[in-house]
Amino acid sequence: MKKILFAFIVVAFLFTCSASIYYLLKALTTELSQPVNAEELADYHFVVIPEEVNNEYWRLVEKGARDAAQHYGVSIEYTGPFTANVGEHIKSIEKAVAGKADGVITQALIEEEFTPLFDQMIQKGTPIVTIDTDAPKSKRMAYIGTNNYYAGVLAGKETANELNGVGRIAIITGSFHSANQQLRVQGFKDVIEEYEDMEIVAIEESNISLIQAAERTYQIMNEHTNISAFYGTSALDAIGVASVLQSLDKNRNIFVIGFDILPDTLDLIRDGSIDATVVQEPYEMGYRSIEVMLSLVQGKRVSEFYYTDTGIIRQEDLKKVDES
Ligand code: BGC
Repeated sequence: MKKILFAFIVVAFLFTCSASIYYLLKALTTELSQPVNAEELADYHFVVIPEEVNNEYWRLVEKGARDAAQHYGVSIEYTGPFTANVGEHIKSIEKAVAGKADGVITQALIEEEFTPLFDQMIQKGTPIVTIDTDAPKSKRMAYIGTNNYYAGVLAGKETANELNGVGRIAIITGSFHSANQQLRVQGFKDVIEEYEDMEIVAIEESNISLIQAAERTYQIMNEHTNISAFYGTSALDAIGVASVLQSLDKNRNIFVIGFDILPDTLDLIRDGSIDATVVQEPYEMGYRSIEVMLSLVQGKRVSEFYYTDTGIIRQEDLKKVDES
């Protein structure tokens, strides 16, 4: 009797083991062999969350994302704070995850806050890809955007060359707390510090608002003398700087370098109110982010970093483009 009981236990044990192995393998292969037909792709719903939905720069990201979504037949939602607000930004991410989005594409605005947030959201099962601003220590799957430190270095070199290594510089930055802005400032500072006769005399925050960029420029111009250059580190900053310098009629002596190629920035470069700008590729970021997210949910391998192109353009470069 004991022998029969023992044999029965062994058989039951073996059966349980093989069933577990079968179901484990089944689960794994289901995860790896993702659907590829059009109907199933249409079920994918990705959410793109910028720091400010109605910002012209982010509208270009949105356009890229929408074009890619249409091309690949997936659906996207573009949502987030109307004007920059970290609390609302975080809520939008949490809502997208609670609403069972198939993937969230967003900025990692403040590294210390967004790193644990992303890790929590990923644990709940939603893949996250960062765009424009990265949180490299989080478990986010990939980053698509400018190499922000390198972009800051480019701006620093351009400024140092223009001023022949001598001058007093003021910076207007989008935010003291945003990782991308910090890197753009750091890259710039690291170059300027190599020159004995160059000094950064002021750094103020615009909260990525054109009006605040203009207000801070006024303030700096009131508080400091002999400013030789302004560096604006987010899309609207140099536009704000230029408008103030134009009104003070001091723009001719002051070198202005900004970020991005929004239509207003290009017009101001053409008329000489902005001297140079660091190019970013927001449309490309939006488009690629959808491609990367799609690969992820289909179980394909993706690279961790997709750095979009960056470089400096000045009036002479625009002339060449305009004439061609
Ligand atoms: C930055 C974005 C920012 C935007 C604000 C861009 O240069 O890359 O992070 O939201 O400026 O205008």
